[in-house]
Amino acid sequence: MRTVDPTTIKDALMDTCGPGTSPRTRLVLERLVHHLHAFAKEVDLSHEEWRLGIDLLTRAGEITDRERNEFVLFSDVLGLSSLVDMLHSPKDATPSSVLGPFHILGAPEIPSGGDLIGDNEGDHVAVIGAIRSTDRSPVAGAVMEIWQTAANGLYSNQDTDQPEYNLRARLKVGEDGRFCFTTVRPAPYTVPTDGPVGTVLGAMDRHPWRPSHLHLIVEAPGHRSLVTELFPSDDPYLDEDAVYGVREALVTEYVPRTSTEDLPAELEARERLALPYFRVDFDISLARETEDQPREASRI
Ligand code: BEZ
Ligand code: FE
Repeated sequence: MRTVDPTTIKDALMDTCGPGTSPRTRLVLERLVHHLHAFAKEVDLSHEEWRLGIDLLTRAGEITDRERNEFVLFSDVLGLSSLVDMLHSPKDATPSSVLGPFHILGAPEIPSGGDLIGDNEGDHVAVIGAIRSTDRSPVAGAVMEIWQTAANGLYSNQDTDQPEYNLRARLKVGEDGRFCFTTVRPAPYTVPTDGPVGTVLGAMDRHPWRPSHLHLIVEAPGHRSLVTELFPSDDPYLDEDAVYGVREALVTEYVPRTSTEDLPAELEARERLALPYFRVDFDISLARETEDQPREASRI
């Protein structure tokens, strides 16, 4: 231990793990330290660069509070959040995508057919679909939480001009798994750039834009919860999402329509839709709870 050198320091560190370290924790930490040290060696990390990294993390700590987590944003813009999502998306299920920082608890419950347009400006959209298990059987008793930006690109919790739960709802899906609702078209927006993440994006000469999207959390008895997003196929930022949340299977067509005749009768706002509106058809596939269960997480 007294004589560690660049080739032995990682093993010296791992040798300090006591017998109470779980095998999973040992594996995760060993690989983390291995790659961290390999990275420093590979780029010949200087003291100045090390200090810069520590300064970025310190600033992330200073700006993080209950409302905003700069560490999660770092994970998002460095692709780690999406990588973990992709590693654990069950086969044949609708892919998951980033949660983002703008979800809040307490959104009002609405029945299927409910309306989120309210007093919002913007293009009207009717979203119609069904929730099924990966074996195609309909899912009963699902709840779909929806949140999105207004047409100005801001969420209700970023904009004091919007009512508290504007463009947010917990939609109770029908027993047959079918759902529909009306809303306005969400807008592209930038991830926050006033903290150290903005510094890194600037250093990389990268823009901070996300394509517009509807956020969804779908929960149903006996099924794995799904956190995901739906993106319009014509969004200009679809191929350059700052947080890498787009998946081909989450890209939806916003089809312009001038008649509401073929819309489900249960859509409350059916007769109030401004023409042309957009129709979005999207079915959701949920994995059963027993499929592809994640292993026990490492304990710290
Ligand atoms: C969002 O979609 O709300 C979001 C996701 C990641 C970072 C910032 C915002
Ligand atoms: Fe978002």
